[in-house]
Amino acid sequence: MARRSVLITGCSQGGAGEALARIFVQNGFKVFATARSLRRIQHLEAEGIDILELNVLDSISLEKTTETVSSLTGGTLDILINNAGAGYMTPLLDMDLGKACKLFDVNVFAPISVVKAFIPLLIANKGTIINIGSYVDALPVPWQGVYNASKAALRSLTDNLRLELRPFNVDVVYIAAGGIRSKFLDNLETIHLNKTSLYYPGREILEPKMNYENEKSAPSSMLPMEFAQEVYEAAIAMVSLHRVYAGTQVPAALSTMPPSERDQLLAGRAGIAAFAELIQKRDT
Ligand SMILES: NC(=O)c1ccc[n+]([C@@H]2O[C@H](COP(=O)([O-])OP(=O)(O)OC[C@H]3O[C@@H](n4cnc5c(N)ncnc54)[C@H](OP(=O)(O)O)[C@@H]3O)[C@@H](O)[C@H]2O)c1
Repeated sequence: MARRSVLITGCSQGGAGEALARIFVQNGFKVFATARSLRRIQHLEAEGIDILELNVLDSISLEKTTETVSSLTGGTLDILINNAGAGYMTPLLDMDLGKACKLFDVNVFAPISVVKAFIPLLIANKGTIINIGSYVDALPVPWQGVYNASKAALRSLTDNLRLELRPFNVDVVYIAAGGIRSKFLDNLETIHLNKTSLYYPGREILEPKMNYENEKSAPSSMLPMEFAQEVYEAAIAMVSLHRVYAGTQVPAALSTMPPSERDQLLAGRAGIAAFAELIQKRDT
């Protein structure tokens, strides 16, 4: 019997995609690990993983990769994991529209383009699509509203796609990931509040929160291999899974809290309560 195959986007060293590639190859899959820079995945070749360059925003790159995979598998693919993603953190009213649109291109629209490219291969093997989202798809974590909205949009599209692909026997799963100790925070642009920002007076309180300084110095998030193991288990489960939590930091309790209590907690953590006090004092 032919080895089952999986293609994963965004497998650069140190991230969740790299760990996913490792878990699947360790479990006997033929793995296509992709990244927009081959240099960042070269090391995976020595582990028996096929590496391919793929920029999920580039239709020519996508076409080339699909052709290569098709020729290597005989026109089939069992699992596609849309893992590539990025962050853009900013107070909403300081948002740069160009950067926000770029984030939606990567996190929301690219996964659909990737599915579109690989769908004939997935249909051929009654495959599974896994979209890596985040638990913030349903939580208003401050200063990352654009990112939260991108994951909410991805979850919505994932749910639609599941129904639209039902006649073709292709399953679609959304992973609501918790914190993963990857390169994600390092890859974020550092926020320096502009003098014109509403939040500038509170920059000493707020910038460390906006730049995740606590999490960077003492990460409490899950190791990528632990996360990858949970995703692997979801991928091979024989039942259709819709929204799967993966990650130690997933604050399930937050999702079930009354919204006013939840908002108070999130505002406290993000420095909003302290900032509110500061400007109240200033204005009285
Ligand atoms: N880390 C967390 O706490 C966390 C929590 C919830 C969800 N997630 C999600 O988990 C997924 C993996 O992220 P990660 O934590 O492993 O972060 P990461 O280490 O920054 O990895 C992100 C990957 O996406 C790739 N990427 C970005 N733009 C791309 C493009 N245009 N084409 C192809 N690849 C592109 C990056 O490539 P480059 O190396 O070239 O930039 C990198 O390989 C993302 O969807 C993220 O939103 C992460």
